[in-house]
Amino acid sequence: MRIVVTGAAGFLGSHLCDALHLAGHEIVAMDNLSTGRWDNLPARPGLTRLTVDVANPIYVEGKVDRIFHFASPASPRDFARVPVAVAAANSLGAWNALHLAKEKGARIVMASTSEVYGDPLVSPQPESYWGNTNPVGPRSCYDESKRFSEALTRAFALQYGSDAGIVRIFNTYGPRMRRDDGRAVPTFLDHALRREPIPVQGDGLQTRSFAYVADVVAGVIALMESGYASPLNLGNDEEVTILELAEAVIQATGSESPIVHVPAAPDDPRQRKPDLTLARRLLGYEPRIGLREGLAATLSQREGQLAS
Ligand SMILES: NC(=O)c1ccc[n+]([C@@H]2O[C@H](COP(=O)([O-])OP(=O)(O)OC[C@H]3O[C@@H](n4cnc5c(N)ncnc54)[C@H](O)[C@@H]3O)[C@@H](O)[C@H]2O)c1
Repeated sequence: MRIVVTGAAGFLGSHLCDALHLAGHEIVAMDNLSTGRWDNLPARPGLTRLTVDVANPIYVEGKVDRIFHFASPASPRDFARVPVAVAAANSLGAWNALHLAKEKGARIVMASTSEVYGDPLVSPQPESYWGNTNPVGPRSCYDESKRFSEALTRAFALQYGSDAGIVRIFNTYGPRMRRDDGRAVPTFLDHALRREPIPVQGDGLQTRSFAYVADVVAGVIALMESGYASPLNLGNDEEVTILELAEAVIQATGSESPIVHVPAAPDDPRQRKPDLTLARRLLGYEPRIGLREGLAATLSQREGQLAS
């Protein structure tokens, strides 16, 4: 198949392109390099790399069978730095990706997020939970534009019969995350490797469920091929506190870094755990890589980066 991936030079997008390319598909990779790098996705036959901003109308010559819309900065640091670009990627970008899918008769999967659940009042979070978000908070450029992208995807399906899926991805980590990304796993690994104190926000008792990138990529591809049209959670339902994550990182790196507490981020969700019942039933999805194994795999890349 001929497959368009937006956000292809980023963390998730580049792993997704690698998996699709390995399966023998031709890839049209789009990215504006705002948070990604083409180094993540080296040139090769069967891969076309286009440096474009998908908030502007996008054109592709020839047939397109599938579109994955993954373009969007995704870390709280980016939400503070470039909130308008974040909102644009998930509104105008989603609009353009959906129009391209409509024009080409392609199935599209929209990358949404567990952030649509906000600071959830229900745990674990099933797809049927509507969420608890702040429309004008520090994360709203992301949460609310992702919610809009879901609504727009549903509108295209209703009005034009578009073949579209929505994946709500929970915290995912792995090689190629930026060291200065601001998300917990790369930040903790980076500090541990530098033997610097590990900054845990607030009391550290807030929870997250961390999924290794290979598990999520496999689930995203399975969702694409399933034809499923409603939102679907993907991630890992092994829930840990942020303090437990810091301890796991210390163990994985053999670091002697102490843990220090820093002020909690405003609107930081207290808990986050996917209900994966639907993904298991629909796709036979099962996260296979636990935190210890996943951290070790991520670490091997981190050490390479630090040495360079
Ligand atoms: N990693 C996670 O834990 C996670 C969780 C939930 C959802 N997601 C979603 O998955 C997608 C990828 O996230 P990631 O973690 O790989 O982040 P990332 O920052 O590594 O990748 C995002 C990519 O999109 C590109 N991009 C941003 N705006 C663009 C635009 N307007 N036009 C073209 N390219 C643009 C960036 O340059 C980057 O390469 C995002 O949509 C994100 O919201 C990720």
